[in-house]
Amino acid sequence: MNNDLWLFGYGSLIWKADFEFVERCPANITGWARRFWQGSHDHRGTPDAPGRVVTLIDAPDEHCAGMAYRIAAPQVPTVLAHLDYREKNGYDRVETNTTLSDGRTVSALIYIANPDNFAHLGDADEQTIAQQIHTSNGPSGANRDYLIELHHALIELGAVDNHVARLFELVDLMGQNQQLPGS
Ligand code: BEZ
Repeated sequence: MNNDLWLFGYGSLIWKADFEFVERCPANITGWARRFWQGSHDHRGTPDAPGRVVTLIDAPDEHCAGMAYRIAAPQVPTVLAHLDYREKNGYDRVETNTTLSDGRTVSALIYIANPDNFAHLGDADEQTIAQQIHTSNGPSGANRDYLIELHHALIELGAVDNHVARLFELVDLMGQNQQLPGS
């Protein structure tokens, strides 16, 4: 129990927990904001046409909602090896204070893509980001499906994330426009 590890997921880890855990709990971190600023060459895009996935940026007054997982000590090396491979496209691990929805506070590991990593794309206007998400595809599927799954996972958590919600609206609109007859 003492050497168990808490992991906080704010992206695909909210809905895709393909590892062993003993407990899962909705959670929040403070001082961070979720942004579609990281390029994806290996999951939701390709090296020639990278997609966009989320990372966290410093945002002192903001909160980021996600899902925390407790991983039993004996499983920690295997789970981290699996996640390090899954998130090898520019992510590092850091620890941050995390508030669980039942009031507990824990130190949890998060995967962050720092701006100096090779796949970092950074900020752009919302239309540009939405267009890139709308058109990108990779070995793990369409980039827009990643956005849709994230948007729905956040709604299920009762979380408000204006950046994700706005991109969802724009990408949804792009999909509707594409389906118009004659367009
Ligand atoms: C996450 O869900 O926390 C996450 C997933 C992929 C890369 C980085 C973070």
